[in-house]
Amino acid sequence: MSLVITNIGELVTNSGSGRGRLGIVEDAAVVVADGKIAWVGSAADAPAADERIDADGAAVLPGFVDSHAHLVFAGDRAAEFGARMAGEPYTGGGIRTTVGATRDASDDELRRAAGRLVTEMRRQGTTTIEIKSGYGLDVEHEARSLRIAAELTSETTFLGAHVVPAEYQNDPWKYVSLVCGPMLAAARPYAKWIDVFCERGAFDEDQARTVLSAGKDAGLGLRVHGNQLGPGPGVQLAVEMGAASVDHCTHLDDADVEALASTGFDCMCADGGHTTTVATLLPGAEFSTRSPYPDARRLLDAGVTVALATDCNPGSSYTSSMSFCIALAVREMRMTPAEAVWAATAGGAQALRRGDVGRIAVGARADLMILDAPSHLHLAYRPGVPLIRTVLHDGVP
Ligand code: NIG
Ligand code: FE
Repeated sequence: MSLVITNIGELVTNSGSGRGRLGIVEDAAVVVADGKIAWVGSAADAPAADERIDADGAAVLPGFVDSHAHLVFAGDRAAEFGARMAGEPYTGGGIRTTVGATRDASDDELRRAAGRLVTEMRRQGTTTIEIKSGYGLDVEHEARSLRIAAELTSETTFLGAHVVPAEYQNDPWKYVSLVCGPMLAAARPYAKWIDVFCERGAFDEDQARTVLSAGKDAGLGLRVHGNQLGPGPGVQLAVEMGAASVDHCTHLDDADVEALASTGFDCMCADGGHTTTVATLLPGAEFSTRSPYPDARRLLDAGVTVALATDCNPGSSYTSSMSFCIALAVREMRMTPAEAVWAATAGGAQALRRGDVGRIAVGARADLMILDAPSHLHLAYRPGVPLIRTVLHDGVP
């Protein structure tokens, strides 16, 4: 079955010879077949296909790649949010509240709750989703969270090192040993990545390095939560260990920015070495914790590869909307609309070291969206407005 999209006002390809960073092509058509992009070119030359979608002059973009989300949890923390908006600070301490609720939930409750969020994300244009564990924090419940995550995505991340659970509070190294031993072994069949929250109050540099080394030895790719609540060793550690991404990056010094820039830009070519450590910015977290936003301009001007993601979780950022994150990045972080759209699509793909998503090019997955707007600019220009008209995931509307 093939399908042609015609009457496209603006095609954002993120690749090839199109205009600007987004590779914009005007008067384009796209053909998808067997779940892949089969043809991209001038509308006048478009081949025939079994079906046709008339985009009616709208913009067509790659689907969003949300490279950072915590979707397997029970309950919510609306009261904590309310207290924060009345002046309480965010400390990450509420993570343990969600751990309690998650351990108490049944498999089906967790599966339904996570599935609902995935559906919510897809409706809003997200076609690739990374899902972390991290609210189980014991062998049984971390493995269960990852098993459920693996039913929903191939981008699964073991975050047993989210915080030290209450029962190990007095012996964090004992918990690190559990994470690196039996918990990693139980999580391994379902996980592609390992992540650690390297932050004061969570895991220090040595503990985080131990966790990442164990994950690397087990064949997992590396990701880091770092420099969210204050300056710290997370970014340098991520670069030193060759992590695909370090996420939050809110409190950086010059050496952090230089270290990230030194990892270069990944062409995502088939024979590329994939050595870039992407800085993944999560402005939903600063919004929901009423904290200063990361300095995206400084990172971009230094040549760092930047991604945007939702960080969807019940504590620090309960949004599933990549469009909202784009609007925040443009208004509050001085990213241009083109930089923000690139970061939410191609940037996310780089953070997951994926060359087959985040762009519209022959051979890439047919993951794309048709906006209810003529240009990508509208995603930031019309914040809060549901502008995603049609989403194709694996070529299927
Ligand atoms: O990415 N920083 C650590 N973890 C999550 C927050 C989790 C929570 O508050 O429940 C984050 O912001
Ligand atoms: Fe997170």
